[in-house]
Amino acid sequence: MNKILVSLLLTLGITGLAQAAGDSVAGQGKVVMCGACHGADGNSAAPNFPKLAGQGERYLLKQLNDIKSGARQVVEMTGLLNHLSDQDLADISAYYASQSMSVGAADPKLVERGEALFRGGKLNEGMPACTGCHSPDGAGLAAASYPRLGGQHAGYVAKQLTDFREGNRTNDGDSMIMRGIAAKLSNKDIEAVSSFIQGLH
Ligand code: HEC
Ligand code: HEC
Repeated sequence: MNKILVSLLLTLGITGLAQAAGDSVAGQGKVVMCGACHGADGNSAAPNFPKLAGQGERYLLKQLNDIKSGARQVVEMTGLLNHLSDQDLADISAYYASQSMSVGAADPKLVERGEALFRGGKLNEGMPACTGCHSPDGAGLAAASYPRLGGQHAGYVAKQLTDFREGNRTNDGDSMIMRGIAAKLSNKDIEAVSSFIQGLH
């Protein structure tokens, strides 16, 4: 392939991404059935349903595509996304990203251990701090699809870390970033860091 063709393909690829940009106003009209579990504005009440409000748009779109394709299994959402187009998923992602995630509280007994893991990792075991990718205030890095964690339900966070560790969630890419990190976390570590995250903002 010559260079001109390569750069043309790259340009097309980038334009393609730009065209899939979501419309948050249109998205609001497409999330009615999601609200039963995730809350009308994306702040769910029950701890097993993740908050989607304020989550990064690119991360949301990646998860929706993964759930739709089955790369990430969410039994509660079986079949729900089948009739939604790429544009619908982009609009829904834009809508939730435009909302604000509410913050919960951390268990005071778990804060010290949770914060040490979040900010310091386990350097002796080669586990990096969570802050490197999810940022010190837990806001994540939207442009890189690193998800927001701050304020998320502890119960949901703990389930994800356990799922990554046990190989029940495998959509973290070929580099297996989160599976590698979760492999270094004990159940007590997961409980503490998840509680800390719930109160982080
Ligand atoms: C019957 C309940 C239910 C309904 C309805 C539902 N979801 Fe979910 N959703 C879940 C559960 C439970 C999870 C988390 C599963 C897990 O533990 O991994 C989830 C996960 C997600 C995630 C991943 C969040 C993250 O932080 O990674 C997204 C995005 C999502 N849902 C979007 C939607 C959208 C959009 C709709 C409507 C089209 C919808 N859901 C409808 C129960 C539901
Ligand atoms: C090197 C970067 C990196 C580091 C360090 C990192 N993460 Fe992640 N994390 C990611 C990426 C990327 C994803 C999204 C994977 C995907 O696309 O499904 C993620 C996803 C998650 C999720 C799932 C979020 C959701 O809404 O479902 C949780 C929970 C999580 N990380 C917690 C942690 C914790 C706790 C630490 C520290 C102990 C940590 N991460 C360290 C990159 C990182």
